[in-house]
Amino acid sequence: MVSQEDKLRKIIDLGYEISQIKDIDLLLEKILHEARGFTNCDAGSIYVREGEQLVFRYAQNDTIQKQLAPGRKLPYSTFSIPISNTSIAGHVALNGSILNISDVYNVGNQYPFLFNRSYDDLTGYRTCSMLTIPLKNFRGDVIGILQLINAKSNTGDTVPFAHEDEDIILYFANNAASTIERAKMTREIILRMNKMAELRDPKETGPHVNRVAAYAVALYEAWAFKHNISQPEIDRNRDVLRMSAMLHDVGKVAISDNILKKPGKFTPEEFQVMKLHTLYGANLFADINSDFDESAALVTFSHHERWDGNGYPGYIDPLTQKALPGYEKEDGTAMGKRGEDIPFYGRIVALADVYDALSCKRCYKEAWNENEVLENIRGEAGRQFDPELVGIFLENIDTFRQIEKHYPDQSE
Ligand code: C2E
Ligand code: SIN
Ligand code: SIN
Ligand code: FE
Ligand code: FE
Repeated sequence: MVSQEDKLRKIIDLGYEISQIKDIDLLLEKILHEARGFTNCDAGSIYVREGEQLVFRYAQNDTIQKQLAPGRKLPYSTFSIPISNTSIAGHVALNGSILNISDVYNVGNQYPFLFNRSYDDLTGYRTCSMLTIPLKNFRGDVIGILQLINAKSNTGDTVPFAHEDEDIILYFANNAASTIERAKMTREIILRMNKMAELRDPKETGPHVNRVAAYAVALYEAWAFKHNISQPEIDRNRDVLRMSAMLHDVGKVAISDNILKKPGKFTPEEFQVMKLHTLYGANLFADINSDFDESAALVTFSHHERWDGNGYPGYIDPLTQKALPGYEKEDGTAMGKRGEDIPFYGRIVALADVYDALSCKRCYKEAWNENEVLENIRGEAGRQFDPELVGIFLENIDTFRQIEKHYPDQSE
């Protein structure tokens, strides 16, 4: 038998480990997994509060998972339930206290809700014991619900959840809630940074960043499929890449209007100034706190490198704007990065960005027609672009056409 003291120590260790995770989906997965391990239960789900709704975000179910082919996902869809007494999760969110039910099919008259059997009816699963825990932030607001299902005895029978575990699991839940809230805040701030860039340059930024992000994710997914990358890894990378790609040009907020919005060709001096947007962008994410910061720093920094080494800003320190020792060209500027020395996400966004810039009208150029665009990109394989990515791009051109239709440019 594990003592309560050992359990408490374990929970405190977990709190630390979980606070190190910044990506919100990974975080939910980990919280649920640890809470289930701790209470030894068969299944569970997490709901996140959005306004007056609980949005179902994540589920695990060992029994059903074992019946699926390897790698297949549970048959869950996205749905939300109101914060009200009509469901167990809604009731706990409304009241803010933990609820320990030994058999959800027999809750009796003491509670206002009935257990919703539709998922059991769909899958043949029998939900019995259930521990439903409010996830409260430091202000005491319920930001989500953790629902643990079918505790197991040592012999594998379904049993009620132990009452003496409730305090410890609540402690764990409160830590988890603070961490979820921090991850959500990070995401909010990123989206606001993007809004700021859009305010600065409303005609070109909004649809451009959405398209570039969608192109980049489509390229990555097609690449990942070819390379047999596992679905969980793809799911993890997709969001980080999408947000990083949306911010690829965020450094342009530091470029003055007379350059940023010049209705015509740059002089060489103006172009030198514009090139600094890669360094300004990288500096915004210089404190690497999460996968996201790291990826955003790489993308803003390296989306104008060229496969053949003739891009910018190259091997340079983004803070001092000086070439790294050993990488100075004769004129003192930095040598460009080349081939696979260019971060992978930078190579992806480089292709997505140019495809979009050529296809659209800009304040300094007309839109090219599709033949001209594809001709250019094909010709730049192994010169401007990673040749493998160009191949994948051309094979999936229909996907890119659809994305383009989905985010049209705003008319003036
Ligand atoms: P952007 O508009 O997002 O363009 C991204 C990239 O698409 C460009 O990076 C370039 O690689 C490619 N691209 C865009 N238009 C053309 C084109 O007509 N021909 C070719 N071959 N490639 C093209 P680049 O050149 O490093 O420029 C970075 C950013 O600087 C551009 O972002 C844009 O905001 C600005 N910019 C570049 N040249 C000019 C210019 O002559 N006038 C003005 N006003 N802005 C410019
Ligand atoms: C509820 O908490 O009653 C809704 C979720 C479920 O049916 O398991
Ligand atoms: C990566 O997924 O970052 C590595 C792939 C590559 O460099 O081609
Ligand atoms: Fe750029
Ligand atoms: Fe761009």
